Amino acid sequence: MCGIVGVTGKDNAVQILLKGLKRLEYRGYDSAGIYVNDQDGHEYLVKEKGRIADLEAEIGSDVHGSTGIGHTRWATHGVPSKANAHPHVSADGRYYLVHNGMIGNFAELKKQYLSDVTFKSDTDTEVIVQLIAKFAQTGMATKAAFKKVLNLIDDSSSYSFLLIDNQEPNTLYVAKNKSPLLIGVGDGFNVVCSDALAMLDQTHDFIELIDGETVIVKPDSILIEDTDGKRIERKPFHVSTDASAADKGAYPYYMLKEIDEQPGVMRTLIKHYISEDGSIKIDDNILQSLHQSDRIYIVAAGTSYHAGLVGKELLEKVAKIPTEVHVASEFGYNPPLLAAKPFFIFLTQSGETADSRQVLAQVNELGYQSLTITNVENSTLSREATYTLLLYAGPEIAVASTKAYTGQIALEAILAKALGELRQVATAADFDVAKELTKVANGEQELVDEKKDIKKIAAALLPTTRNAFYIGRSIDYDIVQEAALKLKEVSYIQTEGFASGELKHGTISLIEKGTPVLAVITDKHTAKHTRSNAQEVMARGANVVFIASRSLAKDGDQIVLPDVHPLLTPLVAIVPCQLMAYYASLQRGYDVDKPRNLAKSVTVE
Ligand code: F6R
Repeated sequence: MCGIVGVTGKDNAVQILLKGLKRLEYRGYDSAGIYVNDQDGHEYLVKEKGRIADLEAEIGSDVHGSTGIGHTRWATHGVPSKANAHPHVSADGRYYLVHNGMIGNFAELKKQYLSDVTFKSDTDTEVIVQLIAKFAQTGMATKAAFKKVLNLIDDSSSYSFLLIDNQEPNTLYVAKNKSPLLIGVGDGFNVVCSDALAMLDQTHDFIELIDGETVIVKPDSILIEDTDGKRIERKPFHVSTDASAADKGAYPYYMLKEIDEQPGVMRTLIKHYISEDGSIKIDDNILQSLHQSDRIYIVAAGTSYHAGLVGKELLEKVAKIPTEVHVASEFGYNPPLLAAKPFFIFLTQSGETADSRQVLAQVNELGYQSLTITNVENSTLSREATYTLLLYAGPEIAVASTKAYTGQIALEAILAKALGELRQVATAADFDVAKELTKVANGEQELVDEKKDIKKIAAALLPTTRNAFYIGRSIDYDIVQEAALKLKEVSYIQTEGFASGELKHGTISLIEKGTPVLAVITDKHTAKHTRSNAQEVMARGANVVFIASRSLAKDGDQIVLPDVHPLLTPLVAIVPCQLMAYYASLQRGYDVDKPRNLAKSVTVE
């Protein structure tokens, strides 16, 4: 979603802001803008609808400065347009503001305080900058006016703000609530960003902010205050990620790079979590907390939710502990009747998903223990949960999640093994997770090496179709839900991932001559059933492609998967499905890394 960058104390502020915004492009946006000043009375505001490249083209050679703020906007209030792009400026030309999140009571604030102000945009953000200016015009200092406005914003809102008062041109006023924001610490300069990746070229040391804090950032100082105005001292944390890990290298698209990285992710997880002797290296407190619970609740959204479906299989079969999987946005407002001793696992690539955060806030209020499994160290869900396990998958930049999905499942397998051993479950003793994940890594490698075959199948099966189906049963039903999400989100082909036995109960009426149906068969108990369901749709004209494990494959099956442990088949079966989505998107001429309307990190509910 929206991205924020800011810098103070560096001569080349324009270049730093643009580079930072480019690094945030992956999060999804529809317009962008920057404001810079040079401490000598020259200031520049440039905004543009479209890509950062469009913004860059608008920036004249005279635009320069040492302090500035920048923003990528993903429209919530008001259409994507130059006028609605950030930064927004107050009517008196004094204050410039960028904002991530949304202000629940912006209409009320506008009506109550700003009926005499002419607005240039339809955004909730402009209300905030106009209101700060309004209070400043009554003689209030900027900090006081800023804090007064923060206090007027209602609880339903979320924000991270970066404000410049052109009367103090080297000062950044910063505040956050529910939306991520970090201060990057430099030598003689400082930066601000909504994602550390944006500023890794400038620094690897970042200070996290807590909701409700305000911060005043100057080139040589960072002053953090809590809600009561009390000064807070906080040490920076170090981000070891190499800035180049977020580059595409020789790949045409991040999605392809990240699909290819999956065997490496498996090996990294083995290295991090499993010792040479096979013992699992997971904090005993996590395992004991899980062991003492009587039911696990996995809460997640989108692809992470699909990884949770496989997690349930693993935890129930390997560790013999009842597990439920819930869509975060549903759980938050309609929770199920909880068990006596629940334990919560939050699966989240970004660690920032607002729907999941909302559930975690409730879990914390109820005093239950929780674990966040995430790819982003120090992310909000990681900080707010009792425990964290990291995926170590490297930055995932393409909007469509690939390596985080397989990383999450692999880590769930390791966790299930450790928990099963603690609970003395026989299945766990027989589950050699390091050996099985190594087999998976080799199998995934085999599949990514054969991507040309998938490209041909995608070209023949999905050239112009409007809709498609993935079908499967049992664990294959888990797989096809993720396979369908991948295909629809990047190719815009309306795709359903269906339990193949359910087709005949209604949905089969959608099958007509040429409808593409991809049948996934990795579960030996349901292989025959899925094949007969596939026959049913073939008899009605469907164009069926079979994706089957080698030991279950039949002559003529188009995609054959290496055999792996029956609970880990999603880790290999998803690879050709990800590639299918990738090629289907490219052959339709879409930007596969940045599908329309989507954002990488969904920080609004
Ligand atoms: C789809 C995708 C999304 C995310 C979802 C949750 O490819 O990436 O469905 O999985 O928005 O995001 P995280 O995992 O960051 O909580």
